[in-house]
Amino acid sequence: MKIGVPTEIKPQENRVALTPAGADRLVTEGNEVFIQSGAGVNSGFPDKAYTDAGATVLADADAVFATAEMIVKVKEPLPEEFPRMREGQIMFTYLHLAASKELTEAMIATGSHCFAYETLEVGRTLPLLTPMSEVAGRMAIQAGAKVLERSQGGLGILLGGVPGVKRAKVLVLGGGVVGTQAARMACGLGADVTMMDIDLDRLRYLDDVMPKNCRTVYSTSLAVREHLPHADLVVGAVLIPGGAAPKLVRREDLKLMKKNSVIVDVAVDQGGCVETCSPTTHADPVFIVDDVLHYCVANMPGAVPQTSTMALTNATLSYTSQIARLGASAAITESNELATASNVIAGQVTCRAVAEAFGMEYVRPEVVAKTIG
Ligand SMILES: NC(=O)c1ccc[n+]([C@@H]2O[C@H](COP(=O)([O-])OP(=O)(O)OC[C@H]3O[C@@H](n4cnc5c(N)ncnc54)[C@H](O)[C@@H]3O)[C@@H](O)[C@H]2O)c1
Repeated sequence: MKIGVPTEIKPQENRVALTPAGADRLVTEGNEVFIQSGAGVNSGFPDKAYTDAGATVLADADAVFATAEMIVKVKEPLPEEFPRMREGQIMFTYLHLAASKELTEAMIATGSHCFAYETLEVGRTLPLLTPMSEVAGRMAIQAGAKVLERSQGGLGILLGGVPGVKRAKVLVLGGGVVGTQAARMACGLGADVTMMDIDLDRLRYLDDVMPKNCRTVYSTSLAVREHLPHADLVVGAVLIPGGAAPKLVRREDLKLMKKNSVIVDVAVDQGGCVETCSPTTHADPVFIVDDVLHYCVANMPGAVPQTSTMALTNATLSYTSQIARLGASAAITESNELATASNVIAGQVTCRAVAEAFGMEYVRPEVVAKTIG
Protein backbone atom coordinates (compact mmCIF):
# COMPACT_ATOMS: atom_id res chain seq x y z
CA MET A 1 0.00 0.00 0.00
CA LYS A 2 1.11 3.60 -0.59
CA ILE A 3 1.31 5.22 2.86
CA GLY A 4 1.59 9.00 3.22
CA VAL A 5 2.78 10.97 6.24
CA PRO A 6 2.09 14.74 6.06
CA THR A 7 3.54 17.38 8.38
CA GLU A 8 1.20 18.17 11.28
CA ILE A 9 -0.22 21.67 10.88
CA LYS A 10 -2.16 22.10 14.14
CA PRO A 11 -0.56 24.94 16.17
CA GLN A 12 2.14 23.74 18.60
CA GLU A 13 1.93 20.18 17.27
CA ASN A 14 5.48 18.92 16.71
CA ARG A 15 4.91 15.19 16.57
CA VAL A 16 5.02 13.06 13.43
CA ALA A 17 2.96 9.92 12.84
CA LEU A 18 5.80 7.65 11.70
CA THR A 19 9.46 7.33 12.75
CA PRO A 20 12.20 6.25 10.34
CA ALA A 21 12.17 2.86 12.13
CA GLY A 22 8.45 2.62 11.39
CA ALA A 23 9.02 3.57 7.76
CA ASP A 24 11.71 0.88 7.54
CA ARG A 25 9.27 -1.78 8.80
CA LEU A 26 6.46 -0.73 6.47
CA VAL A 27 8.80 -0.67 3.45
CA THR A 28 10.21 -4.09 4.41
CA GLU A 29 6.65 -5.40 4.49
CA GLY A 30 6.20 -4.34 0.87
CA ASN A 31 4.58 -0.93 1.26
CA GLU A 32 5.72 2.37 -0.20
CA VAL A 33 6.11 5.25 2.27
CA PHE A 34 5.82 8.91 1.24
CA ILE A 35 6.75 11.55 3.79
CA GLN A 36 6.35 15.31 3.51
CA SER A 37 9.71 17.09 3.59
CA GLY A 38 10.44 18.28 7.13
CA ALA A 39 7.58 16.32 8.75
CA GLY A 40 9.89 14.64 11.26
CA VAL A 41 12.29 17.49 11.98
CA ASN A 42 10.67 18.67 15.24
CA SER A 43 10.67 15.10 16.50
CA GLY A 44 14.38 14.77 15.77
CA PHE A 45 14.11 12.96 12.42
CA PRO A 46 15.54 14.71 9.33
CA ASP A 47 14.37 13.77 5.82
CA LYS A 48 17.55 11.75 5.27
CA ALA A 49 16.65 9.36 8.07
CA TYR A 50 13.47 8.51 6.15
CA THR A 51 15.15 8.16 2.75
CA ASP A 52 17.75 5.89 4.37
CA ALA A 53 14.82 3.78 5.59
CA GLY A 54 13.50 3.45 2.05
CA ALA A 55 10.82 6.17 2.14
CA THR A 56 10.30 8.82 -0.53
CA VAL A 57 10.31 12.48 0.52
CA LEU A 58 7.68 14.66 -1.19
CA ALA A 59 7.76 18.45 -1.26
CA ASP A 60 4.33 19.29 0.14
CA ALA A 61 1.14 18.01 1.70
CA ASP A 62 -0.77 18.14 -1.61
CA ALA A 63 1.68 15.65 -3.11
CA VAL A 64 1.52 13.35 -0.07
CA PHE A 65 -2.30 13.25 -0.01
CA ALA A 66 -2.51 12.86 -3.80
CA THR A 67 -0.04 9.94 -3.85
CA ALA A 68 -1.10 7.97 -0.80
CA GLU A 69 -3.82 5.33 -0.46
CA MET A 70 -3.52 5.63 3.33
CA ILE A 71 -2.67 8.76 5.32
CA VAL A 72 -1.17 8.36 8.78
CA LYS A 73 -1.35 11.43 10.99
CA VAL A 74 -1.21 12.49 14.64
CA LYS A 75 -4.01 15.08 15.02
CA GLU A 76 -7.41 15.34 13.37
CA PRO A 77 -7.48 16.84 9.85
CA LEU A 78 -7.91 20.63 9.80
CA PRO A 79 -10.17 22.42 7.29
CA GLU A 80 -7.31 23.11 4.89
CA GLU A 81 -6.67 19.34 4.78
CA PHE A 82 -10.30 18.33 4.07
CA PRO A 83 -10.15 19.00 0.30
CA ARG A 84 -6.95 16.93 0.04
CA MET A 85 -8.73 13.80 1.28
CA ARG A 86 -10.62 11.66 -1.22
CA GLU A 87 -13.12 8.85 -1.56
CA GLY A 88 -11.71 5.45 -0.66
CA GLN A 89 -8.57 6.86 0.95
CA ILE A 90 -7.76 5.55 4.44
CA MET A 91 -7.08 8.03 7.27
CA PHE A 92 -5.53 6.73 10.53
CA THR A 93 -5.05 9.36 13.26
CA TYR A 94 -6.43 10.83 16.50
CA LEU A 95 -9.84 12.07 15.35
CA HIS A 96 -11.92 12.92 18.46
CA LEU A 97 -14.98 13.21 16.20
CA ALA A 98 -17.45 13.27 19.08
CA ALA A 99 -16.01 16.68 19.99
CA SER A 100 -16.80 18.28 16.60
CA LYS A 101 -19.85 17.97 14.40
CA GLU A 102 -18.15 20.06 11.71
CA LEU A 103 -15.22 17.63 11.54
CA THR A 104 -17.53 14.60 11.52
CA GLU A 105 -19.56 16.06 8.64
CA ALA A 106 -16.37 16.90 6.77
CA MET A 107 -15.09 13.32 7.15
CA ILE A 108 -18.44 11.97 5.95
CA ALA A 109 -18.31 14.26 2.91
CA THR A 110 -14.84 13.07 1.86
CA GLY A 111 -16.02 9.47 1.42
CA SER A 112 -12.73 8.34 2.95
CA HIS A 113 -12.28 5.52 5.47
CA CYS A 114 -11.42 7.10 8.84
CA PHE A 115 -9.91 5.03 11.64
CA ALA A 116 -9.32 6.77 15.00
CA TYR A 117 -6.51 5.97 17.43
CA GLU A 118 -8.56 6.92 20.47
CA THR A 119 -11.42 4.48 19.99
CA LEU A 120 -9.28 1.41 19.21
CA GLU A 121 -10.09 -1.05 21.99
CA VAL A 122 -8.23 -4.14 23.14
CA GLY A 123 -10.24 -5.88 25.84
CA ARG A 124 -11.44 -2.90 27.83
CA THR A 125 -8.28 -0.85 27.30
CA LEU A 126 -7.50 1.94 24.83
CA PRO A 127 -3.87 1.16 23.94
CA LEU A 128 -3.41 4.11 21.59
CA LEU A 129 -4.34 6.60 24.33
CA THR A 130 -2.11 5.00 26.97
CA PRO A 131 1.24 6.28 25.67
CA MET A 132 0.12 9.91 25.78
CA SER A 133 -1.23 9.42 29.31
CA GLU A 134 2.14 7.97 30.29
CA VAL A 135 3.91 11.03 28.91
CA ALA A 136 1.45 13.49 30.49
CA GLY A 137 1.60 11.74 33.88
CA ARG A 138 5.38 11.91 34.02
CA MET A 139 5.36 15.50 32.76
CA ALA A 140 2.86 16.54 35.44
CA ILE A 141 5.54 16.21 38.10
CA GLN A 142 8.24 17.86 35.99
CA ALA A 143 5.88 20.78 35.34
CA GLY A 144 4.58 20.90 38.90
CA ALA A 145 8.09 20.88 40.37
CA LYS A 146 9.02 23.84 38.17
CA VAL A 147 5.90 25.84 39.08
CA LEU A 148 6.61 25.18 42.77
CA GLU A 149 9.83 27.19 42.41
CA ARG A 150 9.56 30.60 44.04
CA SER A 151 10.58 32.43 40.84
CA GLN A 152 7.49 30.94 39.16
CA GLY A 153 5.25 32.09 42.00
CA GLY A 154 5.17 28.71 43.77
CA LEU A 155 5.82 27.83 47.40
CA GLY A 156 9.56 27.55 46.81
CA ILE A 157 9.80 23.93 47.90
CA LEU A 158 11.92 21.11 46.48
CA LEU A 159 9.88 17.93 45.96
CA GLY A 160 12.38 15.64 47.64
CA GLY A 161 13.59 18.10 50.29
CA VAL A 162 17.19 17.40 51.40
CA PRO A 163 18.53 15.43 54.40
CA GLY A 164 17.17 17.12 57.51
CA VAL A 165 14.54 19.12 55.59
CA LYS A 166 10.97 17.96 54.95
CA ARG A 167 9.86 16.67 51.58
CA ALA A 168 6.99 18.15 49.62
CA LYS A 169 3.58 16.49 49.83
CA VAL A 170 2.05 15.47 46.50
CA LEU A 171 -1.62 14.50 46.24
CA VAL A 172 -2.54 12.53 43.11
CA LEU A 173 -6.28 12.30 42.35
CA GLY A 174 -6.87 9.21 40.20
CA GLY A 175 -4.67 6.13 40.11
CA GLY A 176 -4.96 5.19 36.43
CA VAL A 177 -2.24 5.59 33.81
CA VAL A 178 -1.62 9.33 34.34
CA GLY A 179 -1.87 9.11 38.13
CA THR A 180 0.45 6.12 38.42
CA GLN A 181 3.13 7.65 36.21
CA ALA A 182 2.88 10.95 38.08
CA ALA A 183 3.12 9.21 41.45
CA ARG A 184 6.11 7.16 40.31
CA MET A 185 7.96 10.30 39.25
CA ALA A 186 7.10 12.11 42.47
CA CYS A 187 8.18 9.09 44.55
CA GLY A 188 11.40 8.86 42.56
CA LEU A 189 12.17 12.47 43.41
CA GLY A 190 11.61 11.66 47.08
CA ALA A 191 8.28 13.43 47.68
CA ASP A 192 5.71 12.25 50.17
CA VAL A 193 2.94 10.98 47.86
CA THR A 194 -0.74 10.16 48.41
CA MET A 195 -2.81 8.58 45.63
CA MET A 196 -6.61 8.54 45.66
CA ASP A 197 -8.95 6.42 43.57
CA ILE A 198 -12.45 4.95 43.86
CA ASP A 199 -11.45 1.61 42.32
CA LEU A 200 -10.55 -0.67 45.24
CA ASP A 201 -8.84 -3.26 43.05
CA ARG A 202 -6.70 -0.52 41.59
CA LEU A 203 -5.84 0.74 45.09
CA ARG A 204 -4.88 -2.81 46.14
CA TYR A 205 -2.63 -3.13 43.10
CA LEU A 206 -1.04 0.27 43.69
CA ASP A 207 -0.49 -0.55 47.34
CA ASP A 208 1.47 -3.63 46.22
CA VAL A 209 3.63 -2.06 43.54
CA MET A 210 4.29 1.54 44.57
CA PRO A 211 7.32 2.56 46.63
CA LYS A 212 7.17 3.09 50.39
CA ASN A 213 6.81 6.88 50.10
CA CYS A 214 3.42 6.43 48.38
CA ARG A 215 0.24 5.70 50.30
CA THR A 216 -3.20 5.00 48.89
CA VAL A 217 -6.47 6.48 50.10
CA TYR A 218 -10.02 5.71 48.97
CA SER A 219 -11.29 8.85 47.24
CA THR A 220 -14.25 10.61 48.81
CA SER A 221 -15.14 14.25 48.89
CA LEU A 222 -14.21 14.40 52.59
CA ALA A 223 -10.88 12.62 52.07
CA VAL A 224 -9.95 15.11 49.35
CA ARG A 225 -10.81 18.06 51.61
CA GLU A 226 -8.82 16.54 54.49
CA HIS A 227 -5.71 16.17 52.32
CA LEU A 228 -5.82 19.51 50.49
CA PRO A 229 -4.47 21.64 53.38
CA HIS A 230 -1.28 19.52 53.50
CA ALA A 231 -0.61 19.27 49.76
CA ASP A 232 2.12 21.32 48.09
CA LEU A 233 1.28 19.88 44.68
CA VAL A 234 -2.04 18.36 43.56
CA VAL A 235 -2.23 16.36 40.33
CA GLY A 236 -5.67 15.86 38.74
CA ALA A 237 -5.73 12.53 36.88
CA VAL A 238 -9.26 11.14 37.05
CA LEU A 239 -11.23 9.84 34.11
CA ILE A 240 -14.78 8.62 33.74
CA PRO A 241 -14.71 6.87 30.36
CA GLY A 242 -16.79 8.76 27.84
CA GLY A 243 -17.82 11.41 30.41
CA ALA A 244 -16.69 14.72 31.81
CA ALA A 245 -14.23 14.53 34.71
CA PRO A 246 -15.92 14.74 38.14
CA LYS A 247 -15.10 17.95 40.06
CA LEU A 248 -13.17 16.62 43.04
CA VAL A 249 -11.81 20.04 44.06
CA ARG A 250 -14.42 22.80 44.15
CA ARG A 251 -13.75 26.49 44.08
CA GLU A 252 -14.51 26.84 47.79
CA ASP A 253 -11.95 24.09 48.54
CA LEU A 254 -9.10 26.30 47.28
CA LYS A 255 -9.18 28.27 50.51
CA LEU A 256 -8.22 25.04 52.31
CA MET A 257 -4.98 24.94 50.32
CA LYS A 258 -1.67 26.65 51.13
CA LYS A 259 -0.98 30.00 49.52
CA ASN A 260 1.23 29.46 46.43
CA SER A 261 0.63 25.71 46.29
CA VAL A 262 0.22 24.21 42.82
CA ILE A 263 -2.45 22.24 40.95
CA VAL A 264 -1.58 20.41 37.73
CA ASP A 265 -4.92 19.26 36.29
CA VAL A 266 -4.00 16.77 33.60
CA ALA A 267 -7.68 15.86 33.19
CA VAL A 268 -8.33 19.37 31.84
CA ASP A 269 -8.87 17.88 28.37
CA GLN A 270 -12.04 16.24 29.75
CA GLY A 271 -13.15 19.39 31.55
CA GLY A 272 -10.79 19.02 34.52
CA CYS A 273 -11.34 17.53 37.98
CA VAL A 274 -10.70 20.90 39.64
CA GLU A 275 -13.60 23.32 39.25
CA THR A 276 -11.39 26.36 38.66
CA CYS A 277 -9.36 24.77 35.85
CA SER A 278 -9.63 25.83 32.24
CA PRO A 279 -7.32 24.86 29.37
CA THR A 280 -4.01 26.70 28.96
CA THR A 281 -1.18 26.42 26.43
CA HIS A 282 2.54 25.73 26.72
CA ALA A 283 3.13 29.37 25.82
CA ASP A 284 1.17 30.57 28.88
CA PRO A 285 0.58 27.51 31.05
CA VAL A 286 -0.22 28.87 34.53
CA PHE A 287 -2.92 31.09 36.06
CA ILE A 288 -3.75 31.86 39.68
CA VAL A 289 -7.10 31.52 41.46
CA ASP A 290 -7.37 32.30 45.20
CA ASP A 291 -3.55 32.19 45.59
CA VAL A 292 -3.30 28.67 44.13
CA LEU A 293 -1.29 28.25 40.92
CA HIS A 294 -3.12 26.26 38.21
CA TYR A 295 -1.21 24.50 35.41
CA CYS A 296 -3.79 23.21 32.92
CA VAL A 297 -2.11 22.53 29.58
CA ALA A 298 -4.48 20.45 27.46
CA ASN A 299 -1.81 18.89 25.22
CA MET A 300 1.06 18.25 27.60
CA PRO A 301 2.81 15.64 25.38
CA GLY A 302 3.24 18.36 22.73
CA ALA A 303 6.10 19.82 24.79
CA VAL A 304 8.23 16.70 24.38
CA PRO A 305 7.70 15.70 20.75
CA GLN A 306 10.71 13.39 20.55
CA THR A 307 9.48 11.25 23.44
CA SER A 308 5.82 11.55 22.44
CA THR A 309 6.44 10.60 18.82
CA MET A 310 8.38 7.50 19.85
CA ALA A 311 5.77 6.54 22.45
CA LEU A 312 2.86 7.06 20.05
CA THR A 313 4.40 5.27 17.08
CA ASN A 314 5.52 2.33 19.24
CA ALA A 315 1.82 1.83 19.93
CA THR A 316 0.35 2.62 16.48
CA LEU A 317 2.84 0.94 14.15
CA SER A 318 1.52 -2.62 14.31
CA TYR A 319 -2.00 -1.34 13.55
CA THR A 320 -0.74 0.82 10.66
CA SER A 321 0.98 -2.28 9.35
CA GLN A 322 -2.21 -4.38 9.66
CA ILE A 323 -4.39 -1.81 7.90
CA ALA A 324 -1.80 -1.53 5.12
CA ARG A 325 -1.72 -5.32 4.69
CA LEU A 326 -5.48 -5.85 4.82
CA GLY A 327 -7.02 -2.68 3.38
CA ALA A 328 -10.01 -0.97 4.99
CA SER A 329 -12.63 -3.65 4.37
CA ALA A 330 -10.68 -6.69 5.60
CA ALA A 331 -9.18 -4.64 8.44
CA ILE A 332 -12.72 -4.26 9.79
CA THR A 333 -13.94 -7.79 9.13
CA GLU A 334 -10.79 -9.63 10.23
CA SER A 335 -9.77 -7.53 13.25
CA ASN A 336 -12.19 -6.68 16.06
CA GLU A 337 -9.70 -4.13 17.31
CA LEU A 338 -9.53 -2.27 14.00
CA ALA A 339 -13.32 -2.44 13.74
CA THR A 340 -13.49 -0.49 17.01
CA ALA A 341 -11.13 2.09 15.50
CA SER A 342 -13.36 2.66 12.47
CA ASN A 343 -15.33 5.89 12.88
CA VAL A 344 -16.51 6.96 9.44
CA ILE A 345 -16.33 4.53 6.53
CA ALA A 346 -17.40 5.58 3.03
CA GLY A 347 -19.62 8.33 4.40
CA GLN A 348 -21.27 6.15 7.10
CA VAL A 349 -20.74 6.67 10.83
CA THR A 350 -19.49 3.37 12.27
CA CYS A 351 -18.70 4.57 15.81
CA ARG A 352 -21.76 4.46 18.06
CA ALA A 353 -20.55 7.26 20.38
CA VAL A 354 -20.02 9.64 17.45
CA ALA A 355 -23.42 8.84 15.94
CA GLU A 356 -25.12 9.35 19.31
CA ALA A 357 -23.28 12.64 19.92
CA PHE A 358 -24.84 14.21 16.83
CA GLY A 359 -28.06 12.22 16.34
CA MET A 360 -26.63 10.64 13.19
CA GLU A 361 -27.37 7.16 11.90
CA TYR A 362 -25.03 4.48 13.24
CA VAL A 363 -24.11 1.66 10.89
CA ARG A 364 -22.20 -1.39 12.10
CA PRO A 365 -18.67 -1.34 10.66
CA GLU A 366 -18.91 -4.89 9.27
CA VAL A 367 -22.05 -3.92 7.35
CA VAL A 368 -20.28 -1.00 5.65
CA ALA A 369 -17.13 -3.08 5.14
CA LYS A 370 -19.04 -5.45 2.83
CA THR A 371 -19.95 -2.53 0.57
CA ILE A 372 -16.40 -1.29 0.00
CA GLY A 373 -13.56 -2.86 -1.90
N1 LIG B 1 -3.55 17.16 29.45
C1 LIG B 1 -3.01 16.26 28.66
O1 LIG B 1 -2.14 16.55 27.85
C2 LIG B 1 -3.44 14.84 28.78
C3 LIG B 1 -2.71 13.81 28.16
C4 LIG B 1 -3.13 12.50 28.36
C5 LIG B 1 -4.27 12.21 29.12
N2 LIG B 1 -4.97 13.26 29.68
C6 LIG B 1 -6.16 13.03 30.52
O2 LIG B 1 -5.80 12.55 31.80
C7 LIG B 1 -6.94 11.96 32.40
C8 LIG B 1 -6.57 10.62 33.04
O3 LIG B 1 -6.24 9.70 32.00
P1 LIG B 1 -5.78 8.20 32.33
O4 LIG B 1 -5.24 7.63 31.06
O5 LIG B 1 -4.93 8.15 33.54
O6 LIG B 1 -7.19 7.51 32.67
P2 LIG B 1 -7.38 6.12 33.45
O7 LIG B 1 -8.72 5.61 33.04
O8 LIG B 1 -6.20 5.23 33.27
O9 LIG B 1 -7.43 6.54 34.99
C9 LIG B 1 -8.45 7.30 35.56
C10 LIG B 1 -8.61 6.89 36.99
O10 LIG B 1 -9.51 7.81 37.63
C11 LIG B 1 -10.18 7.07 38.61
N3 LIG B 1 -11.35 7.79 39.10
C12 LIG B 1 -12.56 7.95 38.54
N4 LIG B 1 -13.36 8.68 39.35
C13 LIG B 1 -12.62 9.02 40.44
C14 LIG B 1 -12.86 9.75 41.62
N5 LIG B 1 -14.05 10.31 41.87
N6 LIG B 1 -11.85 9.90 42.51
C15 LIG B 1 -10.64 9.35 42.29
N7 LIG B 1 -10.36 8.62 41.18
C16 LIG B 1 -11.33 8.46 40.28
C17 LIG B 1 -10.51 5.76 37.91
O11 LIG B 1 -10.86 4.72 38.83
C18 LIG B 1 -9.19 5.49 37.17
O12 LIG B 1 -8.30 4.68 37.94
C19 LIG B 1 -7.97 11.85 31.27
O13 LIG B 1 -8.88 12.91 31.39
C20 LIG B 1 -7.15 12.01 30.01
O14 LIG B 1 -7.91 12.51 28.93
C21 LIG B 1 -4.59 14.55 29.51
